[in-house]
Amino acid sequence: MAGRSFQHLLSFLMLLLLCAKPGLGNVTGCIERERQALLHFKRGLVDQFGLLSSWGDNNRDCCQWRGVQCSNQSGHIIMLHLLAPPNEEYDEYGIYQSLRGDISPSLLELEHLTHLDLSCNDFEGRHIPPFLGSLSRMQYLNLSHAHFNHTVPTQLGNLSNLLSLDLSDNYYHLNSGNLEWLSRLSSLRHLDLSSVDLSEAIHWSQAINKLPSLIHLDLRHCYLPPIPSLTIPSLSHGNSSVPLVFLDLSWNYLTSSIYPWLLNFSTTLLHLDLSFNHLNSSIPEYAFGNMSSLEYLDLSFNQLRGSIPDIVGKMVLLSHLDLSYNQLQGSIPDTVGKMVLLSDLDLSNNQLRGSIPNTVGKMVLLSHLDLSYNQLQGSIPDTVGKMVLLSDLDLSRNQLQGSIPDTVGKMVLLSHLDLSCNQLQGSIPDTVGKMVLLSHLDLSLNQLQGSIPDTVGKMVLLSHLDLSLNQLQGSIPDTVGKMVSLKNLYLSQNHLQGLQLLFLPY
Ligand SMILES: *[C@@H]1O[C@H](CO)[C@@H](O)[C@H](O)[C@H]1NC(C)=O
Ligand SMILES: *[C@@H]1O[C@H](CO)[C@@H](O)[C@H](O)[C@H]1NC(C)=O
Ligand SMILES: *[C@@H]1O[C@H](CO)[C@@H](O)[C@H](O)[C@H]1NC(C)=O
Ligand SMILES: *[C@@H]1O[C@H](CO)[C@@H](O)[C@H](O)[C@H]1NC(C)=O
Ligand SMILES: *[C@@H]1O[C@H](CO)[C@@H](O)[C@H](O)[C@H]1NC(C)=O
Ligand SMILES: *[C@@H]1O[C@H](CO)[C@@H](O)[C@H](O)[C@H]1NC(C)=O
Ligand SMILES: *[C@@H]1O[C@H](CO)[C@@H](O)[C@H](O)[C@H]1NC(C)=O
Ligand SMILES: *[C@@H]1O[C@H](CO)[C@@H](O)[C@H](O)[C@H]1NC(C)=O
Ligand SMILES: *[C@@H]1O[C@H](CO)[C@@H](O)[C@H](O)[C@H]1NC(C)=O
Repeated sequence: MAGRSFQHLLSFLMLLLLCAKPGLGNVTGCIERERQALLHFKRGLVDQFGLLSSWGDNNRDCCQWRGVQCSNQSGHIIMLHLLAPPNEEYDEYGIYQSLRGDISPSLLELEHLTHLDLSCNDFEGRHIPPFLGSLSRMQYLNLSHAHFNHTVPTQLGNLSNLLSLDLSDNYYHLNSGNLEWLSRLSSLRHLDLSSVDLSEAIHWSQAINKLPSLIHLDLRHCYLPPIPSLTIPSLSHGNSSVPLVFLDLSWNYLTSSIYPWLLNFSTTLLHLDLSFNHLNSSIPEYAFGNMSSLEYLDLSFNQLRGSIPDIVGKMVLLSHLDLSYNQLQGSIPDTVGKMVLLSDLDLSNNQLRGSIPNTVGKMVLLSHLDLSYNQLQGSIPDTVGKMVLLSDLDLSRNQLQGSIPDTVGKMVLLSHLDLSCNQLQGSIPDTVGKMVLLSHLDLSLNQLQGSIPDTVGKMVLLSHLDLSLNQLQGSIPDTVGKMVSLKNLYLSQNHLQGLQLLFLPY
């Protein structure tokens, strides 16, 4: 008896050993019921590019199938990562090797699924399947750029464990009547509904107010209507529980009634984009005055009026500020110089007057500065030379006077310099030759005199040189011939001699 038991035990141990061998299925191998569910799911899809070729009977361990991840404790499938890869042949057109077809309800068998990514596939204008709302453990759902159409199913609001929801860029006119369903997603931290039509979601801001964990909100190009003024409670400063850090509301129909809502996030926001809306008041101090954490602010392409408030000087952490394409007036405040971490500043296409403040030179990390298409006067301050990291400087289409400061030569990383359409006088400084990385130099339509300095020849990367419509004299320096990258050379409407020397270096 004892011997037989021992034998039994032995064969049992052998069996255990066999089972533990890789390939025969670990204790935590693929679960058959889930494997069948995946095969079902595959049958509903059209897999033109063979992306799911590893899904089949030749490999029984579905945990090793492409895009599938199992829990190494329970063996249950926890992730389906089926985003379509870019099609190498066409990748510059953003074409993907997409799956097409139907999303089978067999996915419901995957009860332990926490992560589902079907982005960049082509669901050909279908509905987002409402049953996805029953995958109650879901934490990450990405259906972006997948050609879904029609109304977002409110069942998604049942996914109370969801941390991240991305339905963006389904250009087939995905829409949501109201956003009531959203307010049940109490764990949500990341929400991207860009390009979902929310024009009917009048109370969208209240739905957002109910998401206590939201950190990242992207509602770009959602046809968002203005917040109805009646629903705005009295102005109170930042006492929302919503810890929003990133807010993109660009390309909508928002008006000034958005500002009181923003107060709720004024101390937490790092990134705020309100470009391409219908903001038409002045930039209100009360809304932006306390946004001292802001690193990125874009208010471009609105109809903002009035002058740039001094508060810009309080936003000392800002690295990107874009107020271009508005109707801002008055002068650029001296306090801009306090934004010492700024790397991009665009105030172009406004009606700014006065002179460029000396303090610009304090923005030593600036790499792009665009003040073009304004009515700026006075001379270009010497301090521009302190912006040694500048790669783009555009002061064109203003009424700047005086001469080009010698200090421009200190901006040795500059690749694009445009001072055209001003009233600049004096001669082109020799120091231009120090800007050896310059590829685009436009000084046209000024009143520059003297001769073209020999040093231009040192700008060997220059491909576009426009000095036309000035009062330049003398002959064209031989060194121009050394500018081997030059493609466009405009010198007309000057008093230059020796134009017969002109040749096109290729
Ligand atoms: C079993 O587990 C090992 C180690 O975790 C792994 O390398 C192997 O692929 C697994 N085999 C199966 C069939 O899951
Ligand atoms: C499960 O696998 C992941 C990698 O796939 C590994 O990082 C993790 O440590 C594993 N956990 C356990 C408990 O083995
Ligand atoms: C999207 O659905 C609407 C109806 O909701 C329909 O009119 C439209 O043609 C659909 N678009 C595509 C590309 O399927
Ligand atoms: C969703 O997928 C798209 C495309 O693959 C990706 O760019 C995006 O970052 C994903 N969203 C989230 C929240 O991870
Ligand atoms: C899911 O949501 C729908 C509508 O949003 C609701 O009718 C349904 O009862 C919910 N299901 C569960 C299981 O909570
Ligand atoms: C802010 O809200 C908290 C509760 O979340 C409350 O205790 C506090 O009094 C509020 N502060 C103001 C100024 O309303
Ligand atoms: C600010 O947040 C609180 C709490 O979420 C909310 O009650 C209030 O209505 C919000 N303010 C605005 C203007 O939406
Ligand atoms: C600003 O926009 C509001 C709302 O769209 C409008 O009622 C108002 O007339 C506009 N004001 C100006 C000066 O354009
Ligand atoms: C900043 O917030 C405080 C209250 O937290 C308020 O008293 C002050 O007026 C605000 N500043 C601006 C410029 O609105």
